[in-house]
Amino acid sequence: MHKYALASLILLSGALGTASARDLAAIKASGVLYVGTEPTYAPFTYTQGKKVVGFEAELAEAIARKLGVKVEWRPSGFDTLLIGLDRDRFDLVVSSHGITPERQKAVDFATPHYCSGGVVLARSNGPLTVAALKGKAVGVQLGTTYAQRAQKLPGLGSVKTYPTNADALQMLLGGRVNAFVTDRFVALEARKKFPQANLKLGEMLFQEKIGIAVKKGNTPLRNAVNAALRGVMADGTYKKISTKYFGEDIRCK
Ligand code: ARG
Repeated sequence: MHKYALASLILLSGALGTASARDLAAIKASGVLYVGTEPTYAPFTYTQGKKVVGFEAELAEAIARKLGVKVEWRPSGFDTLLIGLDRDRFDLVVSSHGITPERQKAVDFATPHYCSGGVVLARSNGPLTVAALKGKAVGVQLGTTYAQRAQKLPGLGSVKTYPTNADALQMLLGGRVNAFVTDRFVALEARKKFPQANLKLGEMLFQEKIGIAVKKGNTPLRNAVNAALRGVMADGTYKKISTKYFGEDIRCK
């Protein structure tokens, strides 16, 4: 590599990453847990002013409370989150990651904190089944399991990839794509938020277990997250937060 290119890479990684790999003791001593998320994914993580809010935001904060620390959110592009763990930019990633064998090679996951799946979302009269998607333009968020799945569906006209979940939804609302593949609860939230668009939920394409990610090999931190999660699931906190956002308890059955 050219000397200058290498130097700028080192500078760049210095600018991006402040924290170094932190074990549980270091996190507890600092009192702060750095958590990465892509916050355009209502009702899981989204922003209200400068605050990150939502079901997973409150859940992460409840887990942090059990660990005796405070969450500091680090919003990032969804496709950079797991790489960011490896580069020590965050301690945890809480961004509705489906636990897949491919991702498990790169990071470690805590016990799933909810179960859901990918659905087809369309405007009224839009395509709602895989069969109806033939020849149509389908929007997805970059780096997601929905993007992966859509790319494998036979006969689609095109799969259009957008950097954020919010962008993909806007493209559906604006008629730039015929359908959007996203999470079932995200789709329900969009339908509620934009009643004039008359959005319809269609076929469920697959189901997934969603987990919090830690850096590969950071087992003490993963165990501490699992214990804290068990705690909030047992003491009513999880149920309370889940009911607030969904009207039901969405933990895996
Ligand atoms: N569940 C999907 C996946 O695992 C999408 C998650 C998108 N999350 C987000 N915060 N935008 O890829």
